Amino acid sequence: MRLVSKRRIRFLIFILVGVFSVCIISRCVVHFQYNEEIKYYKKFFQQKKDGLQEIYNPLEIKQIPGETIDDLYSASLEKELKNNQIIEWSKFAYVNYVTDVDYLCNTLIIFNDLKEQFKTKAKLVLLISRDLLDPDTSAKIDQIKLLLDKIQAIDESQVIIKLIDNIVKPKDPTPWNESLTKLLVFNQTEFERVIYLDNDATLRSSLDELFFLPKYIKFAAPLTYWFLSEHDLEKSYHEIKFKEKQPINLGSYTKVLANRIRKGQMIYNHLPSLPHSLYLNSNNIAQDIISSTSSSSPLFYFHGSKKVSKLKFASNLMVIKPSKKTFDEIVEDTLPKIINKKDKYDMDLINEELYNLKKIIYKQFIFFRKVRKLFKPEVLVLPFARYGLLTGSLKNPKHYSMISNDVLGYKNLDENGDEITRSLDDAVTYSKYIHFSDYPIGKPWVYQSVKDFECNVEKEKSRGLELEPQACSVWNSVYESYMQTRKICSV
Ligand SMILES: *[C@@H]1O[C@H](CO)[C@@H](O)[C@H](O)[C@H]1NC(C)=O
Ligand SMILES: *[C@@H]1O[C@H](CO)[C@@H](O)[C@H](O)[C@H]1NC(C)=O
Repeated sequence: MRLVSKRRIRFLIFILVGVFSVCIISRCVVHFQYNEEIKYYKKFFQQKKDGLQEIYNPLEIKQIPGETIDDLYSASLEKELKNNQIIEWSKFAYVNYVTDVDYLCNTLIIFNDLKEQFKTKAKLVLLISRDLLDPDTSAKIDQIKLLLDKIQAIDESQVIIKLIDNIVKPKDPTPWNESLTKLLVFNQTEFERVIYLDNDATLRSSLDELFFLPKYIKFAAPLTYWFLSEHDLEKSYHEIKFKEKQPINLGSYTKVLANRIRKGQMIYNHLPSLPHSLYLNSNNIAQDIISSTSSSSPLFYFHGSKKVSKLKFASNLMVIKPSKKTFDEIVEDTLPKIINKKDKYDMDLINEELYNLKKIIYKQFIFFRKVRKLFKPEVLVLPFARYGLLTGSLKNPKHYSMISNDVLGYKNLDENGDEITRSLDDAVTYSKYIHFSDYPIGKPWVYQSVKDFECNVEKEKSRGLELEPQACSVWNSVYESYMQTRKICSV
């Protein structure tokens, strides 16, 4: 008896070792094959891109410079003028959502500015919690109704107010327990494209140009630049310059892109790439792609595709193509995964599930291998200083050089190769949307006046922050003009 079972055990071990080896070998083979293909396509897109039409590089995530966004917009306006290709503004919308009465005034300010100052023709959509208008659950119903009337009065047909049911995280006592409601933006399918804005922010200029990103793009947003260190940035410049042997001067890209837009050629492959070192684990894309495959045996699941790099999409401002398919996926697949998890909110859902940078590369490549020319990229990175600046950065000298160079891995250089730096004043002028940081002060509307929280150099010094007086004055001016605009809400 014992002999048999010993033999059996030996046999089992033999089988196990066999299976193990086959797994390792097949993994190596796949790895090798991916590596070869990746090498081939990398070269292909580098050498052939000028002549390509309708075939998109799947091995990169692309960043679009502000100048290029403006060029696309001008080209559309020109087509409307010359070729009579009418822009259907009713297919575009700016979207805000409000689940808390304290935020309603911000929507009035933003929508009013969009209409009166920036003259947008897009719809202005407010998603507001049904609860806020229910006398049983809402204490400030009169004030809310007055503000809603003012918002609707901005324009009877352009402003659309929709009552919505919150998506609430049960058993979560934090102020973010209703933040998943933001995901309803993906369900606004009567629009071709929406610009979603968190309203705890100041809007300083029109964003209409964002409606004219290439049609195939379904999601575009700035990245969480504030998590990056100087070392990360140095590595990314090094990657572009030496490993990729590409110019880091942003101007050399925008010039080519402007030309291509003028000629009606595709621009995707010519956009600056997001440096891999900022979001992949290894120097080897094949490695990352394989570690992202869920089909590979869990025995070899070293990194895990869910691991999110510190660089991810910010969710304060997002350009979205609403879609029933995406929204159904969110409701049926993604939401159930996180709704009961502690410390998981809208930004986590977007970055871990929907638009995880690592997974995007994996999905793009696997899909491209299957269908080649049918593959179309869906995601773009927007320049963060223009569309995603935080007020905190105005007081953080470590962020200043990033603010001048907001296409990551690239720099604005002059003819001699010297960096063109922007003063802080210019940076703020260039910023179209500045989000109010939550730290170290609270949201501005909890204070009576700017005097209660204004920046002064001495006070900052005592907190260990060396600041130029100019930084304080820029920071103060942003908050002062916001506090001024709040007057529109007094009822
Ligand atoms: C959500 O948070 C708020 C305040 O942070 C709290 O008053 C409310 O009870 C919470 N809701 C749930 C469902 O836990
Ligand atoms: C999503 O949009 C559809 C169509 O407008 C609507 O019928 C549905 O109620 C929306 N779902 C949610 C959860 O709001």
